[in-house]
Amino acid sequence: MRTIASSASRVRGGDPADLRISYARLLEFLFKQSHVLLVAVAAEERLGFLVMLDDLPDEVTGAPQAFVAYMAVEPNARRLRVASALLERAEQLAREKGLPSIALMVTEENRAARELYARTGFVTERRLLAKIL
Ligand SMILES: CC(C)(COP(=O)(O)OP(=O)(O)OC[C@H]1O[C@@H](n2cnc3c(N)ncnc32)[C@H](O)[C@@H]1OP(=O)(O)O)[C@@H](O)C(=O)NCCC(=O)NCCS
Repeated sequence: MRTIASSASRVRGGDPADLRISYARLLEFLFKQSHVLLVAVAAEERLGFLVMLDDLPDEVTGAPQAFVAYMAVEPNARRLRVASALLERAEQLAREKGLPSIALMVTEENRAARELYARTGFVTERRLLAKIL
């Protein structure tokens, strides 16, 4: 909830209160689906988390996939490879479940996340285009 502003884009913006409502709705949806929740812990402190759907086929091809719905790392634990470790574990679990790919969405302006995903081997497959009317 504290990091959700990083998903707002310059194109359509987003009121912080609306972003929080959307995030709460996302969690409500996620926890009703088959999912994996990973929490990174060190010295009993929670440093970050990743939540991934494991039964949401790709909407275009219908192929099975793992879908990372959201992840975040505490500001004081960033650039320590916590997110990289969470993604690595998510990929390992997806492989064990026989899922052939892992996918996610990221906001264009979220440089940290885009760098992270590029560095961990994700490539752009489709783009979400928007136009202000
Ligand atoms: C994006 C986020 C999860 C990255 O977490 P993290 O644990 O700091 O990431 P890592 O330490 O594993 O970073 C791995 C690599 O990603 C890239 N990266 C991560 N943060 C970056 C930043 N702020 N700027 C540029 N590159 C960055 C770097 O290549 C980094 O390797 P390096 O530190 O050796 O240069 C974290 O910044 C975050 O929680 N942001 C807010 C929530 C969010 O945006 N979630 C993603 C929604 S799609």
